[in-house]
Order: sequence, then C-alpha cells, then structure tokens
Amino acid sequence: MQDLNKLWKIFNEKFADTGLIKGAFSAPGRVNLIGEHTDYNEGFVLPMAIEKKIIMLGQLRNDRLVQVFDLGYKVEAKFSLDDLTPIKKDKWANYLMGVIDEIQKAGYILQGANIIFRSDIPQKAGLSSSAALEVVTALTMSELNSLKIEPVKMARLCQQAENNFVGVACGIMDQYISVLGKKGCALMIDCRSNKYELVPFTDKNYKIVICNSKVERGLVDSKYNQRRKECKQATEFFADHLERKISALRDVTINDLDRFGTKLPDPIFRRARHIITENNRVLTSMGALKNNDFAAFGQLMVESHQSLRDDYEVSCPELDLLVDLALNEEGILGARMTGAGFGGCTINLTKKAYLEHFIEVISEKYKKKAGIIPEIYVSSPTAGAKMIKEGNKNG
Ligand code: GLA
Repeated sequence: MQDLNKLWKIFNEKFADTGLIKGAFSAPGRVNLIGEHTDYNEGFVLPMAIEKKIIMLGQLRNDRLVQVFDLGYKVEAKFSLDDLTPIKKDKWANYLMGVIDEIQKAGYILQGANIIFRSDIPQKAGLSSSAALEVVTALTMSELNSLKIEPVKMARLCQQAENNFVGVACGIMDQYISVLGKKGCALMIDCRSNKYELVPFTDKNYKIVICNSKVERGLVDSKYNQRRKECKQATEFFADHLERKISALRDVTINDLDRFGTKLPDPIFRRARHIITENNRVLTSMGALKNNDFAAFGQLMVESHQSLRDDYEVSCPELDLLVDLALNEEGILGARMTGAGFGGCTINLTKKAYLEHFIEVISEKYKKKAGIIPEIYVSSPTAGAKMIKEGNKNG
C-alpha cells in the first residue's frame, strides 16, 4: 500500500483538505474470452477483468465544482455539476462528465469533488480503459456521496455515458465486467437479462496471454456504429420474415439464416451469420470449460477469430498475423482478437509450460514480420471495481 500512500501525498499537494469524506477506488480493464459484438445484439459474452486497472482518489467539496487531475498525462480539467456538455478539447474529461451527468439524470444528488487518477491500462488497445475510467468515476462519486447504486445499474449508467456523451453506441459488456468481475472467474453474461454465471478460469496448466499489436483502433467509433446499424437491418429483415417475435439477432437461429438468409444482401448476411454463430460458440464454450476441455475451448476461439475476420470484418492484418503466428507455436490451444477490433489485442490460450517460450518467440516473429514491437501481458481473472480500504486511513 506504499503506492497508495504516494498517491495520497500527491493528492494532498494538489488540493487543500476540504474536511469532507474521501476515499480511494479502483476499476479494472478486461479481455473478452469469447462472444464478440454479441452484447448489443442481446446475446452472450464471456469476459474477465484483468490485472490492469485505474486507481482514483477523491474528496468531496463544499461546492458544485469537480476538479480532476490525470496523473499519467499530467492534464487537468475543471467543470461544474450544473454545466455538463461534451467538450472537444480534453476529450478524456468527457468520460467523467458523461458518467456524472447520467448519475444526476437518474435522480441522484451529487456534491462536487477533487479527484486524481492513475491508469496502467494501455489506451486504444481494446482493453477497455474508457470503461474502467467510467466505472471508477461512478464508484468514486457514488461512494463519496453515500449513494447506493446497484452494480448492474452502475454498469448501465456508465454505458449510457459512453453512448450519449462520447458518442460510441457500445453494448454493456465492458462496463459490466469492470463493475462485476470476480477473482479467478470469467463471467458469462446474458446481455438480454443482464444476469451472469460465474465460470471458474483458474486451471494451473493454462494462462491467458494478451498480445498488444500496438495498432491503435483507428476509426473504430464510426465502424463500430456502422456494425450496429447493419445488425439492426438484419434484425428488421428477420422480424418481417419470421412468424415469431424477433427483437434482436439473439432471437434468430442458424436454421432461420439458412432458410431466409440468401435474401439478405451482402454484407448484412455475413454480419448476421457472425452474431448467430458467435452466440452458439459462447454457449458451447461454457460446456467445454465446465468439462475442463481446453482444447475444445481453444478451437472455439480460433473459429471466433475467423468469423470476426471474414464475416464481421473487424480484424486487421496485424491481428491476423498475431493469431497466425501464435497458432503455429507449440503449447497454444487457441488465439483470437479481443474487443471491438480494428487493432488492439489478441488473447492466446497458452499451456503454462510454454509461457515464457511463447512470449519470446511471438515478440520476435511479430517484430520481424510487422516491424512493430508488441507488448505482452499475462493476466489471471481479477475482481471488479472496489474501494481500496487502506486509502481512508492515509488521507
Ligand atoms: C467494445 C464495446 C463492447 C462490445 C465489444 C465487442 O469493447 O464497448 O460493448 O461490443 O466492443 O464485443
């Protein structure tokens, strides 16, 4: 907790003590093991929270101001709780403002606060640094203001902040896992009911290795929103052609696709096929993991990547290269891109005995072929957002 003491020291140098409640909080990034782009189709996802996180320290103020300092980029922002509109400069502040706006719109009463935060989640790498910033802001503001916001509601408010304030029509997965992650487990989330099932992911023989392609997810927002529109188009088609009620692609089966799909124009047909097969893969992978059948799980990861690459078209040459290189290595049971795509990271299901060898070899080969030095992280599943208790003593 020495680190936390240091952070409190910086906090105290930055802000005069208001004498009001203070606290320290954290929220993690995530990788998604399988179930990509299914969340906004009311389908299934299987993410886990990772060891990279954002730590936020805050203290209430007696007025309506929020003053924030980002320790990583050494930038600060100041805004009033009564004047929350997205800003063009200092865009990072929009994540905090958006969350605060949604909390207030939901009817909660907030007081101003002084805040500092520090992140070790790489940005634009598809590891949900923005969801973690939203979630840690929501937790900080709700705890300091003594609000009781249910975890799923908190995730929803953060998702709405990203939809309304940042302009990305994302689903709920990233915010959900950052709030509700559990140590040692992935969460199988049903994105229609918003209920989850814990999936233990702690076999000592296997590890998830994350390879950061270092290709930033350029243009992701517009392409992401475009995929959402394509899914909506496919849903409307099936709602018109099937007798039963279809409210999302979650309701469409492979048989429906075989029967009517050819009437769908390309690429809508392929977008729908990805979502339908990906939902099936998540459900199948639950059985594989319950049986400790990591070989079967790895195969599903491989199929997921192919579908994202060919049908959903959200991969990129560097991610494909990382996956191909990995699958040629011994001890790798599966590899796929994770997150929205268009850059970012792959995840690799690795036999522990091959861990070090794999990290060395993939770095070398990727550097040689792509001319980029990747970053590699190994993470076990961790807990979701929480208060860092020791923080209160050190304030
Ligand atoms: C981004 C979004 C999520 C999800 C993934 C793709 O991370 O924020 O809601 O749609 O892409 O699975």
